[in-house]
Parts: sequence; structure tokens; C-alpha cells
Amino acid sequence: EAPLKVVVAGCGVVGGGLLSRLLWEDGFEVVGVLVRDPFKRRDVDAPAELFSNDVDALLAKKPDLVIEALSEGEAGHDLIRRALAQGVDVVSANKQAVALDPAGLQKLASENGARVAWSASVGGGSPMIETLRAARAAGPVAGFEAVLNGTVNFMLQRLGEGADFADALADARAAGFAEEDPSSDLEGRDAAAKVKLLSYEAFGKVPNEVPCDALSAQTKVGASPVRQIGACFDKAGHLDASVSLNDALEDALFQSLNGERNALKVFGADGRVWACKGRGAGRWATTESVLADVADIVRARRAAVELV
Ligand code: NDP
Ligand code: HSE
Repeated sequence: EAPLKVVVAGCGVVGGGLLSRLLWEDGFEVVGVLVRDPFKRRDVDAPAELFSNDVDALLAKKPDLVIEALSEGEAGHDLIRRALAQGVDVVSANKQAVALDPAGLQKLASENGARVAWSASVGGGSPMIETLRAARAAGPVAGFEAVLNGTVNFMLQRLGEGADFADALADARAAGFAEEDPSSDLEGRDAAAKVKLLSYEAFGKVPNEVPCDALSAQTKVGASPVRQIGACFDKAGHLDASVSLNDALEDALFQSLNGERNALKVFGADGRVWACKGRGAGRWATTESVLADVADIVRARRAAVELV
């Protein structure tokens, strides 16, 4: 069987992890790597000729799959749309890119016989989208609450232990948890995009607005745990969504989260509750989630071939 031809878009924390895995994995041929600066020094040992900042040239290589891990939302969204329009399967870790229009991306994929998946874009290495799908398959969902940002959870823990704000942020960046522009983590935009994607799974639509509390050097963090909670509930057809800093938590699951860990609780309309927790950020946790989506797509491609 011919290897799957893959373009990896982005070669930072996430894209670099994926590239290093795929270069050694049987069954894949990396045909190109999209970056802004093809000549930058990187922490991945890959042939220099793979790197390009030319989207047209990379799509002209006729990949079977684009793995999108860019740090820019609009650029990621445009790339996903272009790939799907060409009938190329896409796996994305870029929540800002997908949250711009998840329904539109799925429609474009199905119109072009392509597949699109984005589990790594919410919850890093934990199966949050899968948990919501399981809950929804069992009946209507009333809402969900979740710790969705590894950087903020990691920093809140460090701040609670008495660390300096700038040191806590520098450590989160060094660990590869923070966004390229960490104001997206601190001001709640990263969690808000994840709330939109979970809402899409729960309710088939995204909330119009997700008001956010910001974490800053002025935020008071004492000895009792503070968490950033993303939530969305269906209030008679209106989606009531928010990202808030909550210092009065009595929730054992959310209190138990250390470091960059994330967790999700889904409330069924019949009173049942589903939950999951796991790593929320970082190179290898995210790489595993992306590869799980890739494995699903490979299986689906094989099934499609067998049916023909
Ligand atoms: P990085 O900042 O480490 O890497 C971003 C990469 O994107 C770089 O290689 C950069 O190129 C490339 N890039 C950005 N914009 C463009 C553009 N317009 N054209 C071409 N290349 C571009 O980010 P991460 O790897 O941390 O994150 C990537 C994506 O994955 C983000 O959307 C993030 O939200 C998501 N994510 C991150 C997780 C994490 O733990 N870090 C976890 C889950 C999801 P260059 O190197 O030349 O600058
Ligand atoms: N910056 C994000 C976070 C990466 O800290 O949660 C994972 O999506």
C-alpha cells in the first residue's frame, strides 16, 4: 500500500512533535512542512528541502492529508478550507481556526468527499470532544463546565504557591503550554474558542458571545484553588456561555487538577453527568491526540477503498 502523503502545517511545539513522529513512522511520507520562515533553526531533525512558506506549492504536491498546527487562526482557517476544497483530508489542532466556522468546515469536507477532525484543538491530550459526543449520543445535553486552558491552570497553581506572575508565565511558555501570543491564554480567548467547539458538539451550534475574565498580575490568588472555568448551558434555546475565574469551587474534579491538566463535566438533560480529565497542553500530549485523529482518518480511508 502506498504511504499517505502528508503536509504538516506549522513546526513549533505541536507541528514539530508531529513531524518528528511522522518522519519515522511507517505508512507516511511527509511531502512538505508549511512555516513562516523556512530557514529558522528548529528542534526537529528534518530535511531542509521540506520547509516552505508557499501554500500553493505545498498543495500542488497533492497530499492525502494536511495536519494543521499553525499559531494563526485566520491563516489556519484559510489553509483548512483550501485543502478540503481540493478533497484533501485535514486534522487540525488549531482551535481558533476551527472555531471560526466548524459547521462550514464540515460542510465543505462532505461536499468534497474529504474528512476533517480537530480533537487536539480542545483538551490537548484528553478526549473531551469524544466525551461530549458520547453524552450527546445518550440524549440531550443541558450544558457543560470545563477547565480548558493548560497555561492558566498551570499558572494559577504556581501563583497559589506564591510564585511571581512573570515567572509563572515564563515557565508555562518554556514548557510549551502557552500560545505564541499568550494574551490569548491569559485573557480567555483560547478557552472561549474551546467553549465554542464543545458547544458545537453539544448543541450543534456555537454561542454568539463568550464573555471572559482575564488572569493578570493583579488577580488575587490565595491558598484555596482558583480555576478558569469555561461553561455553556442551553437556556431555552439561548446558549449562555462564559469563561470565568472561580475562587469558590466546591468541585472535587476541578480542585484536583494540577499543572496543565484539563477536565470536563457534561450535564445531560436527564441528570446524568459525564466527565473526563487529562493533559491539556504540551508537545507530546497534543501529538498523541492529533495522531488519534490521523488513525481514524486512515481507517476511514481504508474502509472507503474497500467499499468501492
Ligand atoms: P508555535 O508558536 O510553537 O508554532 C506555530 C507554527 O506555526 C510555527 O512553526 C510558525 O512558523 C507557523 N505559522 C504560524 N503562522 C503561519 C503562517 N501564516 N504561515 C505559515 N506558518 C505559520 O505554536 P504551537 O505549536 O504551540 O501551536 C500550534 C497550534 O496548535 C495553535 O493553534 C495552538 O493553539 C494549538 N495547540 C497547541 C497546544 C500546545 O500545547 N502548544 C496544544 C493544543 C493545540 P515559524 O516557525 O516559521 O514561525
Ligand atoms: N495554550 C493552550 C493551553 C494550548 O494552554 O491550553 C492547548 O490548547
